[in-house]
Amino acid sequence: MEVKAKIAPSMLSSDFANLASETQRMLNSGADWLHMDIMVLHFVPNLTIGAPVIESLRKHTTAYLDCHLMVTNPIDYVEPLGKAGASGFTFHVETSKDNWQELIQRIKSLGMRPGVALKPGTPIGDVYPLVEAEAPVEMVLVMTVEPGFGGQKFMPEMMDKVRILRKKYPSLDIEVDGGLGPSTIEMAASAGANCIVAGSSVFGAPEPAEVISLLRNSVQKAQQKC
Ligand code: DX5
Ligand code: ZN
Repeated sequence: MEVKAKIAPSMLSSDFANLASETQRMLNSGADWLHMDIMVLHFVPNLTIGAPVIESLRKHTTAYLDCHLMVTNPIDYVEPLGKAGASGFTFHVETSKDNWQELIQRIKSLGMRPGVALKPGTPIGDVYPLVEAEAPVEMVLVMTVEPGFGGQKFMPEMMDKVRILRKKYPSLDIEVDGGLGPSTIEMAASAGANCIVAGSSVFGAPEPAEVISLLRNSVQKAQQKC
């Protein structure tokens, strides 16, 4: 079964002082989603954006805002982000062992699409209950670097997790995040990833549209082979 390719430039690599025009530039270059990394200095040692920025950005675009919450208390962000106009809300399984059911339910009730992310050291089995729940997550984000910063090296050993997930859940959205670009996309695409986050490889390219199209073609080609 084929799941749609979604290419999501990570706005962490954009010029934050020109976020609205940067998002438009990515959409004009063929982006499907805009990946928004939310970091607040606990869980990861970096500080980026929160609901006020999403709210401002929403006034400039109707695009799908794929929010990746690298925070220890994601439940506190559900209402502010929902009201701000976030589209996807992906929380980390490591932070949500005790309250993921409530989290998913609240995310959905605010009209967002729930996803779960896992760090490189977290076993893939930790997300199975969330995918198989009565009210399940609709996407699994497999981190292919340690979360926190753009521009890190892709971890090919994470592809085992993607392969296992794709075999188990043929129609699940599987996102990969960290170090994706022309030299690593084949590995992710052939393992079964269909949602591709790419920061430095897209923003660092002279022609982002070419990289976005290359990423999409790789996913589509890999799907035709199965
Ligand atoms: C890292 C973030 C990523 C990051 C990816 O913690 O979750 O979204 O921006 O950047 P690149 O593609 O440069 O590795
Ligand atoms: Zn991310």
